[in-house]
Amino acid sequence: MIRPKITGTGSAVPQKVLTNFDIEKMVDTSDEWIVSRTGIRERRIASEGEFTSTFAALAAQRALEAAGVAPEELDLIVVGTLTPDFPFPATACIVQQIIKAPNAFCFDLSAACSGFIYALATAEKYILSGKVKKALVIGAEVLSRIVDWTDRNTCLLFGDGSGAVVLEAVEGESGILSTHMHSDGNYWEILYQKGAGSRNPATQKNLDDRLVYLTMQGNEVFKLAVRAMGEVAQEALAANGLTPDDVSLFIPHQANQRIVDSIGKRLGITGERVFVNLDRYGNTSAASIPIALDEAVRAGRLKEGDILLIDAFGGGLTWGASLIRW
Ligand code: COA
Repeated sequence: MIRPKITGTGSAVPQKVLTNFDIEKMVDTSDEWIVSRTGIRERRIASEGEFTSTFAALAAQRALEAAGVAPEELDLIVVGTLTPDFPFPATACIVQQIIKAPNAFCFDLSAACSGFIYALATAEKYILSGKVKKALVIGAEVLSRIVDWTDRNTCLLFGDGSGAVVLEAVEGESGILSTHMHSDGNYWEILYQKGAGSRNPATQKNLDDRLVYLTMQGNEVFKLAVRAMGEVAQEALAANGLTPDDVSLFIPHQANQRIVDSIGKRLGITGERVFVNLDRYGNTSAASIPIALDEAVRAGRLKEGDILLIDAFGGGLTWGASLIRW
């Protein structure tokens, strides 16, 4: 049986570290508040001259090297992002140019923090259809450029970086077992970027009104995230006749330690089986799961036959989960 299988992972984050103590100097907050409410201690921030494509291409090259796949072999590049280099062309096309992958078709996918799982599911379907043999799936963000650094409700939550995987059509039992995605457009206004689109274009007035920045109703997002991520994880397990006990490693979207703990408790997956790195990176949106996955792989946390559960939630609303036999 042919299954889409992750054969290599890579990640790249900016060098520049912004700690909670740095943020204390920017807005009325404290390290103690941020750590107790979110679990975040520091995040990486892109410097001048670094863009979403910078980290996406670097993560991609590392994933290709790990997989032993040459860029020319790629049939598809898909980038999940809410902070592309430009509204168009797709950041995936810029990555294609940087890594020199002339045979791939390339596009971006907009599903906010669920972007990596949506992108993975899309590549999975192309592989299952037989149209694609080797795909590069990337989650990449430079959120620091759409965060309002005067808003203490949001600025401390987010960070920059990218993670990537090579997905190949492989004969055997290991690979993606299933992907599950949902959306609820009724809640789009609880988490979105007001400006820079067709509704509030980049006029001087909209810039002066600070409309370019991300805005969020944190409490509402928190409650919906816990419920939706718990439900879709259960759905993925049930679809494969598995239980939480079968899961070797759980990589949830790295938004907030309290969200991660609540979902883990609901599912009965806790302790060492839950991978967390949000203390070091904050919420990197579509990049959070592939960065965590790359760190988990390189730390030897996944061995052949292990069951990996990934689970995300984001603006849209969008949410999704996938089960993968390693
Ligand atoms: N520093 C210090 N105090 C702060 C603060 C900050 N940065 N932000 C808010 N507060 C204060 C509030 O004013 C409020 O004070 P009050 O009780 O005197 O009114 C108190 O802290 C609690 O605020 P609240 O907004 O209820 O905090 P919370 O426990 O909900 O935590 C978030 C706020 C944003 C951390 C939390 O709601 C969250 O993480 N939501 C999900 C966000 C997310 O993950 N988004 C992306 C999803 S993909």
